[in-house]
Formats: sequence, C-alpha cells, structure tokens
Amino acid sequence: MFARKAALAIVFTLASSVALAHGDVVPQAVDVSTLKPLGDNMLDSNPYSGDKEAIRVGSSAYNQNCARCHGLEAVSGGISPDLRKLNDECATLTNKKAKAQCQVDIDSYFRNSVLGGKVRDGRVYMPPFAGIFGQEAIWAIKSYIETRKYE
Ligand code: HEC
Repeated sequence: MFARKAALAIVFTLASSVALAHGDVVPQAVDVSTLKPLGDNMLDSNPYSGDKEAIRVGSSAYNQNCARCHGLEAVSGGISPDLRKLNDECATLTNKKAKAQCQVDIDSYFRNSVLGGKVRDGRVYMPPFAGIFGQEAIWAIKSYIETRKYE
C-alpha cells in the first residue's frame, strides 16, 4: 500500500511539472482509500453510480480539478462544456437495450476524455489526467456529476 502511494506520488510530481511547464494549474491527487478498489482493468461503465461515498469523494475531486474550467458545482460558465448535459444524452431513447448501450457509451466517453484530455492540433483544451487519476477517481467524479441536474 505504502509503495503504491509512493509510486503514485512520483507519477504525480512528474505529471504536475509537465503541466506547470505549460502554465496549467497543478492537478490535485484524489484520496480514494475509502472507495472499493477496482483493479487495473479499465471498466466501461461507472460502478459507483449512486454510491454516497463516491459522490462525496467525486465532489471534492471535481471542485479541485475540473471546476476552474467546467464551472463550480458543474454549472459551466460557457467556455468549457457543461458536463451535466452528459446525464441527459440517453434520456430520449425508449428501447431498453439501446438506452443501456448509450449509457455505457457515455461512461466510456467520459473516462476517455478525462484520461486523454482534449488535445487537437497541438493545443491543449483540457489536460490529460492519465497517470494522475486511477479509474476510482474518474468514476467518483462521474458519480458526482450524475447528481447534478441540468434544467
Ligand atoms: C484547462 C481547462 C479544463 C480542465 C482543468 C478540465 N477540462 Fe474537461 N474540457 C475542457 C474543454 C475546453 C473541453 C472541450 C474540448 C473540446 O473542444 O473538445 C473539455 C471537455 C471535457 C469532456 C467532454 C465533454 C463533452 O461534452 O464532449 C469531459 C467529459 C470533460 N472535459 C471532463 C473533465 C473532468 C472530469 C475534469 C476534471 C478531472 C476536466 N474535464 C478538467 C477544459 C478543461
């Protein structure tokens, strides 16, 4: 456990100096020790949906790492996408199977967006969080966003 934490700290330090070199704000490591560990195989859908503790951890992780671009409490000021809209992507589908597949697609799109960031033509619109966040942190943030309604 300790060795894993130390290794994470090193990855985190490397990643933050890269981010600093680009003038970005330092990403904050997320304490996921109170969540069920998920292992190394990346899941395609959120296993923590509705889990109270995941929502608590995700709320704090979101506000430290995402809010400055995506808005406090996930209410976007308009420059970056409003992530609450992702919750409604599958709402109009009536076919049960299609709806379930749509939700998996949204979850894996969310996971990939956070891991890879959004980089096009060498411009970093959003920094990648791979190496900083494990999937526990990503799914905790997704669980928090799922509680935020877009009206
Ligand atoms: C430096 C600003 C910045 C930070 C920090 C940031 N994002 Fe983003 N994010 C963006 C921008 C800008 C886009 C849209 C990029 C594009 O044009 O494709 C985006 C896109 C996304 C998307 C795709 C949304 C869609 O509707 O297609 C997701 C999901 C996302 N971000 C999640 C996150 C999460 C979760 C965090 C925190 C862990 C985060 N972002 C941190 C700026 C940021």
